[in-house]
Amino acid sequence: MISIRAHRAAWEAFELKVVPITPNTTLSPRNNPAGGRAHHAMSPPRQEESTTVTDGIHGRRIRPDEGPLLRRLRLAALADSPAAFWQTLGAARTLPAADWARRAEGGADSPADLVALVERAGEAVGMVQGFTPTGRPWLRELGAMWVTPAARGTGAADVLLAAAVTWAAQAGAEAVKLWVAPANRPARRLYTRTGFVVLGGPRPITDDPSVKTFVPMLLPLHPPQRR
Ligand SMILES: CC(C)(COP(=O)(O)OP(=O)(O)OC[C@H]1O[C@@H](n2cnc3c(N)ncnc32)[C@H](O)[C@@H]1OP(=O)(O)O)[C@@H](O)C(=O)NCCC(=O)NCCS
Repeated sequence: MISIRAHRAAWEAFELKVVPITPNTTLSPRNNPAGGRAHHAMSPPRQEESTTVTDGIHGRRIRPDEGPLLRRLRLAALADSPAAFWQTLGAARTLPAADWARRAEGGADSPADLVALVERAGEAVGMVQGFTPTGRPWLRELGAMWVTPAARGTGAADVLLAAAVTWAAQAGAEAVKLWVAPANRPARRLYTRTGFVVLGGPRPITDDPSVKTFVPMLLPLHPPQRR
């Protein structure tokens, strides 16, 4: 159950801060709706953050011809953090180039699908994907969220998440959903401080109960009806 308070807090956090996300949009930690890594109120910024949250980090949508880059980032993510994702590195490696090309084309300029990248000093250091679950046009679901270890703690994750939430809001979605591994504390902290709330206990993401379990989290994008 999502409380009215959580609804309102999430809305107020993102209201009036939506900026268009196109392949050329720059999102810095200062203009992203999540507020930036150094600005959240739940814990004081670490010492190094005042210098690492800089203009060198920005988010953008993938370009239609960046299928090879998407493949490189996704394979790096799966090699780095196999427990964080349901997909395996072995399975992703077998996907043909056409599949990555199709994902990049679909994620570049669509209200239904998204691939957002975060760059530092001009180099891609992270990614997130978004899609519209079948039969739920009011919802956007996120996945494949990853920041390379060297860029963690810099605000890059906030920029990525902000790009995805902004995309969902621009598309008119009422909520953003994602799945996170129960033991993935950095990711759960990131999502919680952004306004996501846990929807229920861990459950398998497929019908096969022997596969990994994930916790569903939801970020409401619209204010509750006032009574
Ligand atoms: C999840 C991820 C994108 C977050 O990026 P990040 O740059 O680490 O994010 P942040 O720096 O904002 O850190 C997130 C939180 O985790 C905390 N954290 C960092 N390392 C941690 C650790 N080893 N153990 C526990 N918490 C940790 C941070 O302090 C922060 O919490 P805070 O808001 O209370 O300070 C990144 O860690 C990542 O790519 N992980 C591997 C892939 C993954 O898990 N993807 C998510 C799939 S759902």
